[in-house]
Amino acid sequence: MTHAAQQLCLPTVYLNGEYMPLENARISPLDRGFIFGDGVYEVIPYYDGRGLRANEHLIRLQRSMEELYMTNPYSLEKWESAINGLIAKNGGGNLAIYIQVTRGVAKRDFPPPAGLTPTVFMMANPLPTPKPEIYVNGISAVSLDDNRWLKCHIKSTALLGAVLLKHESNLLGGDEGIMFRDGYLTESSASNIAAVKNGVILCPPMDNLILGGITYVLMIELAKKAGLPLEVRRVSRKEVRGADELWIMSSTKEVVPIVSLDGRPVGHGIEAGKPGPIFKTMYQLFQNYKRELASAPPQAAE
Ligand code: PDD
Repeated sequence: MTHAAQQLCLPTVYLNGEYMPLENARISPLDRGFIFGDGVYEVIPYYDGRGLRANEHLIRLQRSMEELYMTNPYSLEKWESAINGLIAKNGGGNLAIYIQVTRGVAKRDFPPPAGLTPTVFMMANPLPTPKPEIYVNGISAVSLDDNRWLKCHIKSTALLGAVLLKHESNLLGGDEGIMFRDGYLTESSASNIAAVKNGVILCPPMDNLILGGITYVLMIELAKKAGLPLEVRRVSRKEVRGADELWIMSSTKEVVPIVSLDGRPVGHGIEAGKPGPIFKTMYQLFQNYKRELASAPPQAAE
């Protein structure tokens, strides 16, 4: 498919309070989002108009802005109604709603000037539901040194570190990269990671070295509720290499098993290189959660 023929996003976007065709959306090249990557973003999954933990995403958006000394231009209610409008104008269905807020337009200079009007942009894309084979065959990963900055808890649009790491993972033949900092597991370029050893789910702590994923928090909750043994603690490279199971989680990928790491099968014995039993349980728990969401009233932000 040529670039021109590719659909960049669903036809209607939202820019600074207005819905419009993508072709009509214009921002200044002096927007600090363009010049400095001075902005924050969110990706919220909506299933037939029902946001999966949409409130939590909007609260994280607020926290990211606070970290950038920015004021949230919208109330929670205004975000919700703007998103619902975007969903309706694009025909509903299962959508990934992308929200970006940048500091706004200014003369190019490093210190952020006070009083700028933030630029608010939103678009919708169909949620890329993983193909069923992925749960049978899994994906491959390679280990990489995490060389991103030390404020990975901020969902910033300045994503060059993650972009390069993802590219390098693919160049090395992996579907994803598993990142380590100082010998400990952090996350993947756009998802969180859990490992399993001897029946215990091991989850890296949600500090400044990773993005505290909404899916990650949900998975931890679901695992605890189901009584699965789980530890939130630093996980060493050695533990990851010897793990029985590994999987990634995010709003767009849900939960996907990693079956090979650095060319070696994940796991042991006859189950090596296959999605493991705890992954399968987590997958089911997540699907059950989605089914409950489907029976809730539309626009429920939970
Ligand atoms: N990425 N870690 C990183 C670095 C991420 O970029 C993401 C999400 C996650 C998972 O977070 P959540 O469960 O809240 O989606 C973890 C989104 C999907 C993206 O950038 O497209």
